[in-house]
Amino acid sequence: SQELISKLENTIENIADFPIPGIQFKDISPIFLDPQLYEEVIEDLVAFSKGKIDAVCGIESRGYLFGIAIAVALQVPFILIRKKGKLPPPLVSEKYDLEYGSAEIETRKGQIKKGQRILIHDDLLATGGTTEAAAKLVKKQGAKVVQFSFLIGLKDLKGEERLKRFNAEIYHTLEY
Ligand code: PRP
Ligand code: MG
Repeated sequence: SQELISKLENTIENIADFPIPGIQFKDISPIFLDPQLYEEVIEDLVAFSKGKIDAVCGIESRGYLFGIAIAVALQVPFILIRKKGKLPPPLVSEKYDLEYGSAEIETRKGQIKKGQRILIHDDLLATGGTTEAAAKLVKKQGAKVVQFSFLIGLKDLKGEERLKRFNAEIYHTLEY
């Protein structure tokens, strides 16, 4: 709702030139100082996914802050997608390119089941590189990515373009 969007705009802090010059950093941490607002955010994200998914995959680390609450509210499993080196084997991994160099994300093998309808959740969609890799990781385990949700979408970076080919619904609570 517009009321929720306004509250979030007044709560999320914009920090210019962090962590590097040219980046407008969106600090979501003040949301967690206000449990009532946090609850409203979860209700909004839950409404998007209700009845449509079998499991939630959350992306380390800020994707856990809302993702696990969505999964609990919908009474479906929550699967951690982690950065390389944090989870013990057996694992399924996906490499992806960053602006400079590359990165890798992983899940524990067997936690995502064949045929499951998956929501991939993260706090923020920027270039879409991280989310695209997460979607590939889900697909290669035989599950279907049916939804992507984010608290924030950054429209100038065209992340949604990158996600279109997965033919999944895309939602963000607010956009900058
Ligand atoms: C940020 C953000 C998203 C990702 C978006 O995470 O939380 O996960 O970047 O960027 P992209 O769309 O260009 O891939 P970050 O890697 O900073 O780590 P964190 O969540 O652990 O803070
Ligand atoms: Mg992140």
